[in-house]
Order: sequence, then structure tokens, then C-alpha cells
Amino acid sequence: MPPQVPRQTPLQQPHPAGQRLDAARHLMPITERPAEVFVRGEGAWLWDAQGRCYLDWLQGWAVNALGHCPPVLAQALQAQAGALLTPSPALHNQPSLALAERLCGLTGMHQAWFGSTGAEANEGAIKLARKWGRARRSGAWEIITFDNAFHGRTLATMAASGKPGWETMFTPQPAGFAKARWNDLDSVRALIGPQTVAVMLEPVQGEAGVRPATPDFLHGLRDLCDAHGLLLILDEVQTGCARLGTLFGFEHYGVRPDILTLGKGLGGGIPISALLASREASVFEPGDQGGTFGGHPLMCAGALAVLEELARPAFLAQVQARGTQLAEGLRALSAQHGLGGVRGAGLLWALELGDTRGPALVAAARQRGLLINAARPHCLRFMPRLNSSEGEISTGLDLLAQTLSGLPARAQAA
Ligand SMILES: Cc1ncc(COP(=O)(O)O)c(C=O)c1O
Repeated sequence: MPPQVPRQTPLQQPHPAGQRLDAARHLMPITERPAEVFVRGEGAWLWDAQGRCYLDWLQGWAVNALGHCPPVLAQALQAQAGALLTPSPALHNQPSLALAERLCGLTGMHQAWFGSTGAEANEGAIKLARKWGRARRSGAWEIITFDNAFHGRTLATMAASGKPGWETMFTPQPAGFAKARWNDLDSVRALIGPQTVAVMLEPVQGEAGVRPATPDFLHGLRDLCDAHGLLLILDEVQTGCARLGTLFGFEHYGVRPDILTLGKGLGGGIPISALLASREASVFEPGDQGGTFGGHPLMCAGALAVLEELARPAFLAQVQARGTQLAEGLRALSAQHGLGGVRGAGLLWALELGDTRGPALVAAARQRGLLINAARPHCLRFMPRLNSSEGEISTGLDLLAQTLSGLPARAQAA
């Protein structure tokens, strides 16, 4: 059940629908958004301007690892905001030094660079691989990526992605990304040539509808990279930071990358991403990489506080327990409604529908007070906070069951 809070504050006065639409006119229409305006979040719950409460299984798109406004993050931000916001990216600051050291210790990587978004970290990974190819592999620069992959929305990360339709958007695209088929090692082998420098993938393709790499595939890629002298780049922007029930997705598989990118859950709701590289792959020199807000003390202090929570063995054990609960509930619903099964790990799951009702079910679930996403029209995706309680998972499964059964929606609060 949601925490007991006043239903409305002065900020949460209902807006006439027309007023909301009027305000949205000044935002570039880059995506379709429902009309509700969200004003407050606490833990698993989100409130709209009309005082309606939602169980949030979007959590900022797998970002709010500890839920909305976790006190541990708020306190770290408050303390840092009173001490130092930013000295300049050209000067050291304590939180970025501490976060780099902690992340390298936890991942086994040698060095880190910090950005603000996942795309920025992946763009850095692409540059790093090209630099490494120039220095160590006779100028090789091509990266093998995958059908349906998602690596971000900069020009290079869009070119690296394999989202259907993206290959013709914003052309000409940056060159140098050969596309292999997912979970098909032979298709990778066939693309390796003298210009190949790296293989880049998500351990679980999140935006494609939660499609895990098979263990054999990921181990096979590691072996192929070793045999051909290529870098293995893991994009763990979505799967990292405890989302799969291990602190990093590569631990779930037992495969070590040469380059690793993190984002989303790393900041638990604030914008920070990381590019990490092994000693062999970490070849940037002064002038190669930068950014005004890279290593920002406020973001690094927040991420450090979040990471300490996520890294606790007891925390990871409860992600796994809640993940098992969620998966079992989804499997039961899939069987009951004759759907296409479930995929995922930890607290990242998809329910295959077998038809394209996804967007309609997302809207219907919202009417019942459950926020979910249709990663593709044929599947629903669930990304609850990682510290979900047993009761929250049960409540979400109940709301989903009602949505799938098409029971009448809840009475709407004014
Ligand atoms: C695997 C993966 N890589 C990269 C990105 C891009 O991250 P951002 O939106 O922070 O740029 C995403 C975002 O969904 C992602 O899931």
C-alpha cells in the first residue's frame, strides 16, 4: 500500500486538461506522453498533479534503483551541495576520485571516466576502442554490434544500435558498425576482418524487449575476442548496478569485459554514467575525452551513496528473491491468459503477449494505478525499484492481473 501522505499540496492542484496541453506545446514532441503531470515520488510510488497514486514499475526507466527520492541519496546530495558543486572538470574533486576508486575495485577495471548519460559513456567506449585499434591493432576501427541493440541516441550510438528503422534516420550515419545476429556466434565470426577492433553488446537487450544473451553466446564472444585480439565491450547501462541481481551483469554470466559502460541505476535518479576500461584497454591520453559536467562532484557523491547500498550482499540477495517472486507471478499470468512466456533476470523482466496489445495494456494499467512499459508492442517490460518489498511485488502482480482480465478500472480520485 502507498505511504500515508496528504493527497494534495498546493503544488498538486488539478489542472484543467487544456492547460496541461497548452504547456506541453512548448516541449519538442519527441515522444508520446500521457496527459498526467507527475509531481511527487516516494519509494515505489508516484503521484500525479491530481493526487492520484501509482505503483511505479518504470522507475525512471530502470534508473531509480532505490525508488523515488531515497533518503540516502537525498542526504548525500544535500551534504555535497553545501560543500562544493563543481571546481571545474580540469581540477580534481574528492567524490569523483572516490567513485572511480570504488567502481574500479568492484568491477576489476583499471580506470574510469564519468559522463552524464548512457549514450555519452557508450560514445566514449567507441572512441576508446578506435584509439586502441589505432595504437594496438594496425588502425582497426570497426565494431561488431547486434540486431535490435540499443546503445543511445547520439549519432554514433544510434549507428551502433540495431533498432529497426534507425539505419535510415539522420543519415549519413557514422560508419564502422557491422551488425551480427543476436545469440548467433557464427554471424559474428563471419564479420570479423582486419578492420575489426571490438564486439559491443548488452548482456540483456533491454529496449529490444528484455532479450538475454545465452551464456554460451557470451562465453563464445569472449573466446572469439581473445582468439582474434579484439576488445569485448559490455554496455551495462541498463543491466548494471544490481538490476540483474548481481552487482554487474557480467558477474551473472561469469564473463569479463575489456570495456564496461554504466548509467541509469548508477545515480539512482541523478544523471551520471561511467566508462570503465581494463589496464590494457585504457589508452586515452590528455585531450582525447572530456565534458564540462564529467565527474561532477554532486553526481559522484550521489552515485557513491547509491552504490554502497547496491553492493551489500544482503541487498543483492533480496533483489534475487523479489525477482523470483515477480517471475513466478508473471509465469502464472502468462499461463492463465495463454500468453507467450517471460524473459529476464533480477528485477528486469518482460512478458511476451503474442499480439500487439502492449501500448493499450500500458494505458489500461495506468488507469488502475500501475506504471509499466511496452518495450515493443508485443511485450510488457517491468523495472521495479530494486529494494521492492514482497507486498509491492504482490500489489503490482494483482494490478497486472486485473489489467489483463480487463476488470473495471479503479474509481479515480479528484
Ligand atoms: C543498454 C542501454 N545503453 C544505452 C542507453 C542510453 O542511455 P541514455 O538514455 O542515458 O543516454 C540505454 C537507455 O535506455 C540503454 O538501455
